[in-house]
This record gives sequence, structure tokens and C-alpha cells, in this order.
Amino acid sequence: MFDKVPSPKAPKILQLLQDFSNDPRQGKIDLGIGVYKDETGITPVLETVKAAEKILVSEQKTKAYIGLAGDPIFCDLASNLVLGDKLDLKRVNVIQTPGGSSALRVLYDLVFDVSPQSKIWLPTPTWDNHPPTIKASGLEFRYYRYFDPSSQAINFEQTIEDFKNVRPGDVVLLHGCCHNPTGVNFSKSQWDMVAQVALEVGFLPLVDIAYQGFGDGLDEDAYGVRKLIDHLPELLIASSSSKNFAIYRDRAGVAITLSKNEKVSKALGGRLRNLAGTNYSMPPDHGAAVVRTILSNKTLKLQWLSELKEMRERVHKIRENLSVELRNQTNSTRFDFLAEQSGMFSLIGLSGSEIRRLKDEKAIYIVDDGRINLAGLRSADITRFAVAVREVIS
Ligand SMILES: Cc1ncc(COP(=O)(O)O)c(C=O)c1O
Repeated sequence: MFDKVPSPKAPKILQLLQDFSNDPRQGKIDLGIGVYKDETGITPVLETVKAAEKILVSEQKTKAYIGLAGDPIFCDLASNLVLGDKLDLKRVNVIQTPGGSSALRVLYDLVFDVSPQSKIWLPTPTWDNHPPTIKASGLEFRYYRYFDPSSQAINFEQTIEDFKNVRPGDVVLLHGCCHNPTGVNFSKSQWDMVAQVALEVGFLPLVDIAYQGFGDGLDEDAYGVRKLIDHLPELLIASSSSKNFAIYRDRAGVAITLSKNEKVSKALGGRLRNLAGTNYSMPPDHGAAVVRTILSNKTLKLQWLSELKEMRERVHKIRENLSVELRNQTNSTRFDFLAEQSGMFSLIGLSGSEIRRLKDEKAIYIVDDGRINLAGLRSADITRFAVAVREVIS
């Protein structure tokens, strides 16, 4: 039965991680894999997560099944971070999911279920996992023009032009903040315009918000999604707790639907729970229980906000210091954009052969498309990295 199964090709990012682990050179630098790292180069467990885990160990009374939609209190608290609190909750459905990835999968499945002819429109470029997961749901995808590499900015006129050609009933995926992989995001006025065009054209936005709190702040990063909520009758949202609580492997997130009225909302809630059931039955509890424990405890919540701020500010500082150092080393403003973009990622704009030289000659690991994870850079490595870039481009 399995004789014809082709040998698997490791995803490029995982192959890069493998090569990095096998590299014996001292001082090697990994800017590939997309997780936050601190100044010592590790992805720490937050103090608030440890505190919440201690509380759970001593107070948790049961590990019995919790239901297809997960823990309703986690759902309220986690969705509240995204939605804010000024919403007609009768129009909202929330289910707990195994991370943002499964929130996306369940929402694609929901679209396939109710409107299989709808296409999902993705920005160019986008997170590598979007296209294959959409395909796995049975839907087709298309691209809208987003990032312009020559200006390191959004070509907004083209984006809007493409949005105006989307068919009513199609779905447009928008990165809520900290766009992966470009670090380039809509300004507030651009979000306002996107909301207006979505309403005029009649497409359904799906907001993927996986890095809330890593850009300008928790509420600031939710500006766009809240604008859409204010303007539109229907909306889909996939939110991840992986990054802002640093619980990557524990798998917690929420899938949210906003619909026209309570009746539709109830029906959608049923569909969402069914889709969760056929995908993975129930979401894992631990990560969500940790998030719930933190967010429902005033002291822990304040402490978490300050840990999140520390992560955000470290990434900002690395961006600023790296752009200054690259300016000094290359005697040009070519890399100034790094300081203006936000979140963990940017596309550094090097050629394939320059990226290969960084790996082969300097033990610096970057994804093929030039995406760098700024959070992977320690302050102590900034000059070495900038010198290496200068050497491979000259
Ligand atoms: C843009 C984007 N969306 C969603 C996710 C999903 O995150 P997770 O499934 O780990 O919560 C990621 C993770 O890298 C991402 O970069």
C-alpha cells in the first residue's frame, strides 16, 4: 500500500535548523526559525507562565474532557485581548484551538463548508504555511499585491486595486500586525481604507493575528482588526497565544467568527465545534489553562504585560541598533528600513548567493527568501552580522 509514497522533502526552514544544529563552528548565528530569543540566545519560559504552571499543579482538580470548543473562560479572555470589550457578544463565536495554525485550518474548513467556490486571497509574500493549509482544506487561493521589495513598503495603491477586483464572497487574508515575513504593516489610515473597501466590495476578511503585542503594543496591534469589527457585518479571526505567551509547543489559540446576528452566530458556533471535532476532537488544555490563569489574575496579568513589553522592546532595540551598524558598515542607507518595520521579521533583501555565502563563510543562517528573525540576534552579535553583510555584498 505504501510502496509509492514519495520520500519526504524536509521543509526548507527545518532543513536550515538541522544544518545549523550540525554546524560545529563557534559563534554561529541562527536568524531562521521564527521564535523569540533573549539576549542569551534562548527562548525562555516566561516567569508568569512558570507561576501559572505552579498554580495549576497545586489547584487543578481534573483532567477530564473539556469539550469541542475548549475552555469557555479561556475563550473569553483570549478573544478579549483581540476584540477589546465594546462588542455585541451575541454576534461572536469563539473556540479554543491548538495554536493559531489550527484556528486558521478550522476557519478555512468553515469557508469550504459553507462556500466551497470562495477563493482565499493572500498577500505577496505571506507565511509559508498559508497556501498548503488552504489547499488541504479544499479551497483555492490567489494573491494580492502587497509588499514592494524596492521600497521595502506596501504598494498600497496596487493592494487596493487588487482588493477591488476580488469577487464578493471571496475571503481576503490580512496579517493583523507584524507581517510575516516582511515586517511591513498597514498604517491606521490604510486599515480604515481596507475596512471601507471590504464593505464596498463585499469580501470577507480573515485576520491572522499571531504576534499581537510584538509591534506597537497589545491594543495598538489590534487597531486593524477592531476597525474591521466596527465596519463589517462578518469577519473571521485566527489568533495565537504561542508568541505573546511564549508557549509555542503548548498549542493555544482561538478561532473567532463575527456574524450578522444571534441566529446566524448560533448556527456558526455549531459548525465550528463540528469542524474542531472532525479535525482534532478537542484542543489540548495546558497552554490555554496557563493563559487563563495569567489573564484572570490581576497581578500575573500585569507581570505578563511587562514581560511582553520586554520582548517587544528587545526586538525594537535590535532593529534600531542593527540598522545603525549596517549604515556605518556599508556607508549607505540601504538597510535603514529595518528600524521602521515591526515584529520579529524583515526581508533583508540579499541575493540567493549572498545568503549562501553568509551560511558557508560566516556561519550565519538565513531563510532562502532573505527573511531574518531579528529576535535571533544577540546585541553582542550585531557588529559581526553587519560586517558579514558588508563583506558579502561588496
Ligand atoms: C503569520 C502566522 N500566522 C499564524 C501562525 C501560527 O502560530 P501557531 O500555530 O504556532 O500558534 C504563525 C506562526 O509562525 C505565523 O507566523
